[in-house]
Parts: sequence; structure tokens; C-alpha cells
Amino acid sequence: MALEEIVNILNQKIGLNPSSIGISSIERAIHHRISCRNCVNIKEYSQLLLHDSKEVRELIEEVVVPETWFFRNKGPFEAFQQHVKNELLPKGNKRKPIRILSAPCATGEEPYSLAIALVEQNIDPQAFRIDAVDVSKKALELGKDAHYGKNSFRDVKPTIQEKYFTPTERGWLLHDEIKKLVKFKQGNILAGALSPHPGYYDVVFCRNLLIYFDRKNQQLTLEKLYRAMKKGAILFVGHAECSQVSETYFQNSPYAKSFSFIKRDKPAEKRLAPKPVKNIPKENGVAGSQQNNSAAKKVVSKKTVSLKAATNVTKPTDSGTVTDKKQKPVIDSLRPAEKLANEGRYQEAENQCVAFLQLHPDSAHGHYLLGLIKNSLGEQKTAESLLKKAIYLDPNHEQALILSALIAEQKGDVDAMQSFKRRIERVQNRRRQDNL
Ligand SMILES: C[S@@+](CC[C@H](N)C(=O)[O-])C[C@H]1O[C@@H](n2cnc3c(N)ncnc32)[C@H](O)[C@@H]1O
Repeated sequence: MALEEIVNILNQKIGLNPSSIGISSIERAIHHRISCRNCVNIKEYSQLLLHDSKEVRELIEEVVVPETWFFRNKGPFEAFQQHVKNELLPKGNKRKPIRILSAPCATGEEPYSLAIALVEQNIDPQAFRIDAVDVSKKALELGKDAHYGKNSFRDVKPTIQEKYFTPTERGWLLHDEIKKLVKFKQGNILAGALSPHPGYYDVVFCRNLLIYFDRKNQQLTLEKLYRAMKKGAILFVGHAECSQVSETYFQNSPYAKSFSFIKRDKPAEKRLAPKPVKNIPKENGVAGSQQNNSAAKKVVSKKTVSLKAATNVTKPTDSGTVTDKKQKPVIDSLRPAEKLANEGRYQEAENQCVAFLQLHPDSAHGHYLLGLIKNSLGEQKTAESLLKKAIYLDPNHEQALILSALIAEQKGDVDAMQSFKRRIERVQNRRRQDNL
């Protein structure tokens, strides 16, 4: 099918996971390009893409999401300033500036914010160097031009805006003293090396990219970043991406609310499943607190999504996912763990789940159940990783999708929550059609 072929091309070229932006956005982009190229239909356009690399680039320009703004999220920039001042500058060497990478940089607001953050700390511009990479040529051109509209300043104090920008007819123009501190370069993070040599960067901002990738490309990106980073370097990701950062390569940083990680000296041994936790607080319910549930219900259960399906683990039908139905005997062996979880005996439930996963490491339902238990124990990050794995193993695992939507909603991550909601609706529609 032509649409599928085009989606595959986009996945191969820039790692795009179609469900991240929704298939309808991809279709809109394709139809726009079909009319630009006067193609008769999508079939003809998909043929054109096979031998016209310029058109592939045009389509990429159409599907990428260059949404960004100055000082997007306060925490990461504060942690960045602290890290440079307290960790990097004291160990610095005048001939080797601190090397910073912003990839993807979109239209430049992120790397310019990094430059402003350092200048605000009176750090000598000779002491650092900022590289900014993005696949989109159009976005980079806007970045180099450095004229910005009001959306780019949604998180900026007026004093900073007035200090570093001049109003013009075309918006606010960034001053040359900051412009010259950022080196833009077009590049695909998935293709080629990220740095002139391994162990190059001291700081990497790779925010709001992993969310658009499938698991394979997320993994590939994290491995590439690991190689490009210096020993002990710091990586910043988007707030919705923390659960995707591999514990094999990175460990949590000491900076709160910064969504940052420190490169491990060497990759850690992979763990099959999290270790059982001790002293589990009794008051935690399987579905989280009452307050959290009602907030989530408001958004998530508005349409067809059933909260109960995600949070009650005792019903035999709850494991009715496409893959797991075929594995009924395997699922049945999880029933005792489900029962323990419903009785609030989380530690025993968790131990049984961990043992189960050692025997069945590819069980989506096993990962989902352990994720549910971890979430009840307040270990949200681990829960998210487990749910992600469950969805990776079985993209139709409705309960894992519902619980992921609830967690996203609780975190205030509306984009992720809506993306899960769309996936849930598709799974439910498909099931309805199958039942007709
Ligand atoms: C949402 S913006 C993120 C910008 C900035 N890091 C932030 O968080 O505000 C995502 C950017 O990723 C870029 N992008 C997507 N796939 C890419 C790839 N494979 N290599 C490099 N850039 C990519 C897009 O062009 C887009 O500008």
C-alpha cells in the first residue's frame, strides 16, 4: 500500500514513529506534497519518492514538528547554569572550551537560550562553544536569521527579551553578540557521527526528539549520544522522555526537575526486571490515589476509554489483548500475582511478577502488571518504562495504553496523554469491528 510505503520511508530516513504525530498528519503532509508535485494520486507520489531524494527532503520538511521556544522549561536551564559553573568551569582548560550540543535545535531558540544563560552568568564566550543540529533546512534558516515572533517568548522574562533582542518589523531580532555563539549545522541524528570524535561533548540537549521515534531508533540515538559525550557529561531530554533514557548508559543527575542524566563511565549490565522493593507503603492503591484517579478520569475516560480496564486486574477478560489471548496459559500463571495486587499485597505481587518475567521476558501482560504495581508504589518512572515495554511487545495492549494515558495526564503531559488516547480509540475501534 502506498501510504505504508511512504510511512516506511519516513521511518527509515528520520526514525519517525507514525503514531507519535498521528497518521492523519502524515496524510495531510503527503497530500500537500502531491499537489505541489502535480501527482495524480498517492501511488504515483510514492513511486516518485523512490528515486527523488530532493522530494524525500521536502516531505520531511512537511512532517517534522519544529515547535520550540526560548527557555522551554525553567529547570533544565537552571541546572545547565549550575553544572557549567560548578562542575565544568573549575575543571576547564582555556584551550579546550566547554562543548555543548543542541540537537535537534529546530529554529534555534534552544541553543540561543543556552548561550544567553551562560552570558547571563558572566561566563567568557571564549570558554564555550555551542553546536546546533537539525534535519530541517527551513528551521535552520529561520534560526540563522534569528527573527522571532511572540510565541518564541512565552517563557522569557521581558528584561531578558529587551536585553538581547531588538524589535523590528519582522519580530524581535537577536543581537549579534549571541547569534555568533551558535554554530548551526544541518544533520540527521540517525545518520553519521554526531561529533568529530568520540567523547566530544560536555553537555547535550536532546529534547523532544525521542518522543517521535520508535523504540529501535530511540535506542540507536541514545547509543550515539553516549558515544559522542565525554566521560561524566550531562544529557538533557524532554520531560516526557525521561522514561526512555536507557539505564544502561545513563544515571540520574543530581539536579531536580531538570530531566537530565549523567553518562555512565561504562555501560551498566542490563537488568531483566527491576529488583523487588522493600517496605512498601500500605496506603498505596493499585490504581494510585483517589485524587489522581479522579483527575485522570476527567480527561481520559471522557469518551470510550474505560478506567476500570486499566486499574482492576482481577477480571479474566482484562488480559484480552490480541497477543496475549494466544498465550492464555501463560497469562493464567499471572493470576495469583494479579490477585495479590488487588488485595494490596504489592511486595508479594511484585516478587511473583519478577519471577514470571524471568521465565517469560517477552510477555506484554507481565510487563504491564509489574508497571501497574510499580505505579501504585509511587515508582512512576519505572512504571512508565515497564508500560512502554508492554506496548512495544504488544502495541494493542489496551490496559497498558490506558495506564500510560493516566500517568501522562497526572504528569500534565497533555500531548502524550492525547497520543495514548488516540491509540486506545484505534484499538477499541478495531476490536469492535472484529466483534461485528
Ligand atoms: C519539537 S522540535 C525540538 C526542538 C528543541 N529541542 C526543543 O525541545 O524545544 C523537534 C525537531 O526535531 C527535528 N528532527 C526530527 N527528526 C530528526 C532527525 N532524525 N535528526 C535531526 N533532527 C530531527 C525536527 O526537524 C524538529 O525541528
